[in-house]
Amino acid sequence: MSLTCPLAAVPPGSALRLDGPVPVAVFNVAGAVYAIDDTCTHQDASLADGWVEDCHVECPLHASTFDLRTGECTGPPAKRPVRTHPVTIAAGIVRVDVVVTTP
Ligand code: FES
Repeated sequence: MSLTCPLAAVPPGSALRLDGPVPVAVFNVAGAVYAIDDTCTHQDASLADGWVEDCHVECPLHASTFDLRTGECTGPPAKRPVRTHPVTIAAGIVRVDVVVTTP
C-alpha cells in the first residue's frame, strides 16, 4: 500500500508521521527524503518526534539511534533495526510504498 503527503509538508530539516496500517516517519534531510517505520523497536515511541543528525534519528524516549538510509540500529538501548520504505517524489507529492506484513 502507499501513503502520501505533499512535499511541502515535510520541508528540509523536518519530519512527518504518516498514519496507516503501519505508521511511517518521513524525514527530509537537506532535500533527501527517507521513510522508516515510525515506531521505535525498543518501546512505543514515535521516531518522527526524534532528533536528526547526519542521517540518523535519535528516539525521543531513550535515545536509541537509527540510520535513516538503512534502518540499522546504531545506538542502544534498541537492538533491532526499523524497516525502510521506498520513497518516490512526483509533482510535489511524496509517495511511500509500505510493505504491510500480516501475522
Ligand atoms: S522507545 Fe526508543 S529507545 Fe526506548
